[in-house]
Amino acid sequence: MHHDFWHERWQTGQIGFHQAAVHPFLARWWARLELPADARIYVPLCGKSLDMVWLVERGHRIVGSELSPIAIHDFFAGRGLEPTCTEEPGFRRHCAGPFEILEGDALALTPDLLGPVDAAYDRAALVALPPDLRRPYAASLARLLPSGAKTLLIAFEYPQEMRGGPPFSVEAAEIRELFESAFRFEQLERLDILAENPKFAEVGIPALLETAFLMERR
Ligand SMILES: C[S@@+](CC[C@H](N)C(=O)[O-])C[C@H]1O[C@@H](n2cnc3c(N)ncnc32)[C@H](O)[C@@H]1O
Repeated sequence: MHHDFWHERWQTGQIGFHQAAVHPFLARWWARLELPADARIYVPLCGKSLDMVWLVERGHRIVGSELSPIAIHDFFAGRGLEPTCTEEPGFRRHCAGPFEILEGDALALTPDLLGPVDAAYDRAALVALPPDLRRPYAASLARLLPSGAKTLLIAFEYPQEMRGGPPFSVEAAEIRELFESAFRFEQLERLDILAENPKFAEVGIPALLETAFLMERR
């Protein structure tokens, strides 16, 4: 059900979540992760995000996870890259230059398949998931990241009863509850972006808060 929903979104081009510019929180906060240039970054539920290109421009290598072959095709085609593809248990690995994307269910990813990573970047990944999948998602990040690895996580808060997700509203208290057994946790930013999101304003939502968190694997 969950997978069909996303495949259909990509097949019908309903990808309003995709941003034409790099996320301002990424540019503002990434330095706080204090990573070496050659760090390998996990980008869960990566879509065809241009944030991956920004990270590579900083010298990083990317390993993303994504269900949709359309998203993956569009990402590489948009860079003029032709990835090599290899079949792995439950996943198809697409590689070109500093980019690797694992096609399959991120919640089923193992450390062996992902390989060593130094950090993670979650923009619109946790908030893409309904409540019953958030704990398995948090468990997957804990399983895949080594001790000391940092994550920049970007989420939304709004009155959930006024609009269905995705993106879902996931408040700081829930994020803390999901992650705090395995991660240290700091809130970096909480910004009202309602003015740039008329679909939320149209249904009377009074504020759409975008939040950023820095987490470190214990
Ligand atoms: C809201 S979009 C965000 C995409 C990207 N992070 C961005 O900022 O543009 C969520 C993405 O996660 C993918 N997705 C949803 N569930 C997934 C899962 N279980 N495993 C891998 N990818 C998934 C969807 O196909 C979609 O591209």
